[in-house]
Amino acid sequence: MFNFLKPKPKTARPTFAPLGIDIHCHLLPSVDDGSKSNEESIACLRIMHEAGFNKVICTPHYQYPRFPNEESDIQQRFADMKLDLASQGVSSVIPELAGVAGEYRVDTGFTDRMSTNKFLLVGGHYLLAEFSLHQQVMGLDEILFELQMKNYEVILAHPERYPYYSSSSSKLQHFKDMGIYFQINILSLQGFYGEGPRRKAYEMIEKGWVEFLGTDMHNTLYAQALIDASHDHKIIKLLDTHKFLNSQVFSANAGEATKI
Ligand SMILES: [Fe+2]
Repeated sequence: MFNFLKPKPKTARPTFAPLGIDIHCHLLPSVDDGSKSNEESIACLRIMHEAGFNKVICTPHYQYPRFPNEESDIQQRFADMKLDLASQGVSSVIPELAGVAGEYRVDTGFTDRMSTNKFLLVGGHYLLAEFSLHQQVMGLDEILFELQMKNYEVILAHPERYPYYSSSSSKLQHFKDMGIYFQINILSLQGFYGEGPRRKAYEMIEKGWVEFLGTDMHNTLYAQALIDASHDHKIIKLLDTHKFLNSQVFSANAGEATKI
């Protein structure tokens, strides 16, 4: 009888419409630590649509030996997911599934992949790379240099989250000098990963170091946090005043990067 007192579930506002495309999410089900089913992915995608995204690029983890994904299998699963979602008639309330790529952990599997150039690239152009959250990668400069020699355009995923770069920005500055692109997680700006990453994310944006934002969406817990982020006044202002390159990710000129 007191149903009218029940708070309505909070919905997202379209804060992220200026980005248009989300370039980093784990909504291809059951291939990593992200979504477990198409239903869970749809629940997240609905909220992303409300939050202003009209396209998403799925970027499952490739990480040795935890997520030993293989590109042709990932492409097949992505095609199957698209068919299933289309058959469920949800296309008008979710962003378009615009592509599948990867979030490649720089590890021993990564260096093996480099020898065969077997990467799925974001927008067909950019190699989304991540490091371990626990320890620095040995020989990183050489690896990045070799990627650049092969004409890959590298985006470093969530540089604000690596604790070993938190106290000094000199290594991050070095990456920028090398021409590495940075992608900050939207949820870092909202405090989802704690105060350290939040502060670091804003610091890098203010320095002009950040070309891309991403949701790094894994599940509905992240989606709820995205709703909060879409109502955060500081984030709303940021999207008003800063230009990011998300919407251009399919039209970038990435030279001769090898594609599958
Ligand atoms: Fe990720």
